[in-house]
Parts: sequence; structure tokens; C-alpha cells
Amino acid sequence: MSKQIVAGNWKMNLDLNEANQLLQDLIKLEKKFNSNAEVVICPSAPYLSAFAEQLKDHSWIKLGAQNAYFVDSGAYTGEISPLQLKSIGIDYCLVGHSERRDNFDENYEMLAKKSKALINHDVAPIFCCGEQLQVRNSNVYREFVMKQIEDSLFSLSAEEIAKCVIAYEPIWAIGTGKTATADQAQEIHNLIRARLSSQFGENVAKEVSILYGGSCKPENAQELFSQADIDGGLIGGASLKADDFCAISNSF
Ligand code: PGA
Repeated sequence: MSKQIVAGNWKMNLDLNEANQLLQDLIKLEKKFNSNAEVVICPSAPYLSAFAEQLKDHSWIKLGAQNAYFVDSGAYTGEISPLQLKSIGIDYCLVGHSERRDNFDENYEMLAKKSKALINHDVAPIFCCGEQLQVRNSNVYREFVMKQIEDSLFSLSAEEIAKCVIAYEPIWAIGTGKTATADQAQEIHNLIRARLSSQFGENVAKEVSILYGGSCKPENAQELFSQADIDGGLIGGASLKADDFCAISNSF
């Protein structure tokens, strides 16, 4: 069975004091968070190590990184390796967020390598996919999203892909306040699961959590999460407010 997950993508926001404050606010809300959902936060990389220490006594919050390279170590100035992430206790890592695909030219081949390298180190990739507005309007959005997944994840084995989380994030919904309707999101989530099933088998398809991302907030999370193939959310803006993030966790 796929896990219900709420993952907060803090992006490049918050200075150290603000980030620590948000972490403390979340920790205080422990009893209010949905205990059936996996709670993941992805703060900026400089805070990961200190957060990992602080979360030793609060293991209900899992830590995710926002990016990693695909090599264990070496002359790659500025990069972070999956091995390094694992060594400080990181459980998840975003892969292929649209902001990285667009601003840092991450292509399908690189994302395939990153996903594989993370899995090798037992860090679960949260693989992001999703179409631009013009693709949505041109009506080939289904094929577009399937191709993103096939190109980067279908070289994995069934056992490996079962360890991945997939986040469907239509780019026109990210940070715009314009959420996909529950029907629009469910259509793609259902297609993703069907495609995983035809490639890797039904049991594997049922294992993979498929999250929705793009202006998900307390007001719309319930309708989205009630859809059969939506296992939770990758939350940007609303994850920067502890109460909103907590409310979203209670929207299943
Ligand atoms: P948003 O961001 O919730 O602010 O739209 C989601 C994301 O980029 O992961």
C-alpha cells in the first residue's frame, strides 16, 4: 500500500533563525499532525545537518533535501552527494523539480542518474513531473507527463521504483494560486499509476505514493486528497506556515 505523505518544499526561503522557528513551531504541533501521514520537510541544504540533530527526538518529522548530484564524492564543487545526505540521516530528496529543470537545465538523463544514485543510498527520490500551461492547452499533456516518467524512471528495476515517490506538479499551478481541480489531478495520477502497473506490475504501482503539488493549501487539500490515486501533497508556499502545513496533513 502506498503511504500518505505531506512533504514541505521550503525552496530557497528563510534565514537560519526563521527556519529554526518554523521547525520549532512544527515540533510543537506534533499531537495535531495526522499520525497516519508521513510528514517530510525539505529545508535549504545548509540547515539539514543541524535539523537532523534536532529531529533525533522527533522522528515523526522526516527530512528531505531539495537536490543531490549522482556521484558519491569527488571534484564536483558545490554539489551534494546522496552518500553525504544519507550520512546525516536524510530520508528523501526532491528530483527534477520544475524550477531545477527550467533554471538549471536538468534533463531526463541527469534525473535518471540522480534517482538511481539516491535509491542506491537508500534515500527516496521524490520525482517531480508536470506540464507547462502551453502543453496543457495543446492537449498532449498526458503523453508529456508519461514521457517524463518513462524517460527518467523506467530504467529502474521494479524493486527500485517501488522506493520512489512521484509528485505531479503542473507548472501552471506552482506558486500561482491556481490549483489543478481534483479531476484534473486525479486524471494524471490515475494515468501514472496505470503506466507503472503496465510496466512494473500492479503490486509495484500500488506501492508508489503519488503526490499532487501546485498551490495545494488547507482550503483545497481535502478535495484533492480524497481522490483515489492522490496519496498526499508536495507543498511549497503553504509549508512555510506551520498551522497550514498541519491542516493539510489532516486533509486525508
Ligand atoms: P506551491 O509550490 O505549493 O507554492 O505552489 C509547490 C512546489 O513547487 O513544490
